[in-house]
Amino acid sequence: MSEATKPILEVLSGNRQKVPPVWFMRQAGRYLPEYRAVRERAGSFLKLCFTPDLAAEITLQPIRRFGFDAAILFSDILVVPHALGRRVSFETGEGPRLEPLDISDIGALPTEADAAILVPVYEAVRLVKRKLPPRVALLGFCGAPWTVATYMIAGRGTPDQAPARTFAYREPEAFARLIEILIGVSSHYLVEQIRAGAEAVQIFDTWAGVLPPREFERWCVAPVRKMAVNVRREIPDAKIIGFPRGCGASLATYLDQVPVNAVGLDWAADPAFVHEHVRGRAAVQGNLDPLVLLAGGEALDRAIDDVLANYAEGPFIFNLGHGILPETPVMHVEQTLQRIRLS
Ligand code: CP3
Repeated sequence: MSEATKPILEVLSGNRQKVPPVWFMRQAGRYLPEYRAVRERAGSFLKLCFTPDLAAEITLQPIRRFGFDAAILFSDILVVPHALGRRVSFETGEGPRLEPLDISDIGALPTEADAAILVPVYEAVRLVKRKLPPRVALLGFCGAPWTVATYMIAGRGTPDQAPARTFAYREPEAFARLIEILIGVSSHYLVEQIRAGAEAVQIFDTWAGVLPPREFERWCVAPVRKMAVNVRREIPDAKIIGFPRGCGASLATYLDQVPVNAVGLDWAADPAFVHEHVRGRAAVQGNLDPLVLLAGGEALDRAIDDVLANYAEGPFIFNLGHGILPETPVMHVEQTLQRIRLS
């Protein structure tokens, strides 16, 4: 079966599918008992990311269980700072920890990632690709420079990204250097994932929504645009999904500047706004509230129907508005897939 017959790739080429293809952000993760078992045996999260057999196995778990239309490579956006020599660790239940970056560290940062660190990621891509069912597409990903920088500066997740926002106001030149390094390294990282077999890539800008418009343009739009241009210079037909989470009406600016094939919407997106500003320019991906997936029942059925009614008449990929939550019952994921596929 040729690649063009994979439903997600069709949508990314602008061709609406009668039954929308579906995958979920964080579809491989702690809500799955089989993930928790592998994670417990491996001990550390980074060991999972950098052991190709384990990363490939975890990537395939949700495909086997649910039959999603895409597999997303199991890894994390923070492998990039790790490959830039920053210490990264994941404490169970606490989220990521990094050594916080200050202005003197930025001057000393390498401009290229340690290639040897990322090689196992590309090997995992190759392994998954060989084992995927023919209709299932393989997605690679990375974090957008702004979102990755927020973790590098703060050393952890923060509720409002105040450390990075403050740093960017006080030290715009140093911050710009950090963003430029992340643009270069992340573009190359995506190119290598595609060369290893990823059929599309998603750029996660999870914290795009906390910036005022001027900063959003400078630290989210312009960097992701440069990344898209860099990737397409190497791979002209590269399929790119942008996910500027929470950016509201600034989505129009994002789409003016960033040449993405699809844009991921969070659950708060306004359908009328999306119709006016997104339709005809990019496919839509999203945007079920992860909390309604967790809650289940009739509320879930209603929410699925709303998402389909709002977006499925054009090129559309069904997804969540953000990652699946660890407490989500597996049954609710099954319920969702059944309902979409009967629609
Ligand atoms: O979507 C997938 O299934 C692919 C794998 C994937 C992970 N992280 C695995 C993971 C992807 C695409 C990511 C992206 C990621 N990582 C983002 C962007 C998207 C988003 O969700 O906002 C961000 C901001 C991170 C950073 C990160 N990694 C955080 C904040 C955390 C802790 C919170 C949490 O949910 O545990 C992680 C850890 C992480 N990344 C886990 C998984 C499965 C849990 C690790 C564990 O304890 O086993």
